[in-house]
Amino acid sequence: MSQYTKNSPLGDGDLLADPIAQLAAWLDDAKGAGLIEPTAMALGTSVDGQPSVRIVLFKGFVGEDLSFYTNYEGRKGRELAQNPHCAATFWWDRLERQVRIEGTVEKLPEALSREYFYRRPRESQIGAMTSRQSAVVASREELDRRWEDNAQRLAGSEVPFPAFWGGYRLIPRSIEFWQGRRGRLHDRLLYTKNQNEWGVERLEP
Ligand SMILES: Cc1cc2nc3c(=O)[nH]c(=O)nc-3n(C[C@H](O)[C@H](O)[C@H](O)COP(=O)(O)O)c2cc1C
Repeated sequence: MSQYTKNSPLGDGDLLADPIAQLAAWLDDAKGAGLIEPTAMALGTSVDGQPSVRIVLFKGFVGEDLSFYTNYEGRKGRELAQNPHCAATFWWDRLERQVRIEGTVEKLPEALSREYFYRRPRESQIGAMTSRQSAVVASREELDRRWEDNAQRLAGSEVPFPAFWGGYRLIPRSIEFWQGRRGRLHDRLLYTKNQNEWGVERLEP
């Protein structure tokens, strides 16, 4: 059992009043902590009462919202189309910090998705257009063959932007900051949006 002793206690006034600015600050700390994927977050979706969770990469704030990119027709894309309410969690082990976010998603404007798509390496662009995310495939060879076919067919030309691929903005309704403390009496500060104003409460660990 780990004893969390890294951080100084989180007093009631120690976090910024704006949880978006606070999250940005903790993300900066995580990026400086030598982690492999400091922007990785677990994204939970739910349909018909059945949750499912997977990791995606946070790709920056769009206004006050968190963006991530994926295939709109994979499992998470279909689930978000059915139920846009979702949750995301960051866990930075070296920092002994967790952030939990709940809210709803909307698709990003296509222009933003395009812009991000063409900033990615060409290999990833071909990967995104090749993958029918979450579909069953007969073999690894079939997938590799489709990737090679696309790469050859498109040699020397721009990879066409796949209409089924793009970003979401997660519009947060609540954000909880958790920091480990000795003896399991961890600090938890929960921000909730009420009529466009963020309020904050402390939760028991
Ligand atoms: C570190 C890490 C980062 C990932 N980043 C993304 C991402 O940004 N977008 C994405 O679609 N999948 C990402 N994945 C893959 C997803 O976890 C998942 O396998 C995939 O999106 C299919 O999920 P779905 O079937 O629920 O749609 C990542 C996986 C890991 C382990």
